[in-house]
Amino acid sequence: MILPIYLYGQPVLRKVAEDITPDYPNLKELIANMYETMDQADGVGLAAPQIGLPIRVVTIDLDVLSEDFPEYKGFRRAYINAHILEVSGEEVSLEEGCLSLPGIHESVRRGTKIHVKYMDEDWQEHDEIVEGYLARVMQHEFDHLEGKMFIDRLSPLRKQMIKGKLGAMLKGKVRCAYRVKTLK
Ligand code: NI
Repeated sequence: MILPIYLYGQPVLRKVAEDITPDYPNLKELIANMYETMDQADGVGLAAPQIGLPIRVVTIDLDVLSEDFPEYKGFRRAYINAHILEVSGEEVSLEEGCLSLPGIHESVRRGTKIHVKYMDEDWQEHDEIVEGYLARVMQHEFDHLEGKMFIDRLSPLRKQMIKGKLGAMLKGKVRCAYRVKTLK
């Protein structure tokens, strides 16, 4: 089932999301819905707060990048109770977008290497060092679990430049190819 994506201004996007337990109701179905919602919106990642749930669940699909990065062929995973323990490596600027911020694309500086802990869909625990494009996407998505969005990481000047677009979004004035939930 395709779920509406919550846009900038929705309070759930500013909450610190909670860990869940294996008895969380209908988790398999929720993850399947998140994949479907992400696919139809052409996203590479989706965090549960973006569908209105303040829980630590994220889906990532990097298969669309497999032409440039063959290592991501068929890469489609869900991350449960994800936490970033450390960000390191060289800081690099890359353009990011977000399904909760349609029409906004900005360069964001982030480290290239992360230490993460999470459970997979089978509740196996992982403790990994991740690099490359996946480290970038994970940081963007896991930021959502801390109530953060990529625009928080922009310079004051760039923030000023997108102020108008954000203001319009708060008023529900947004054009988008997928179903969304605005404040108004
Ligand atoms: Ni996002």
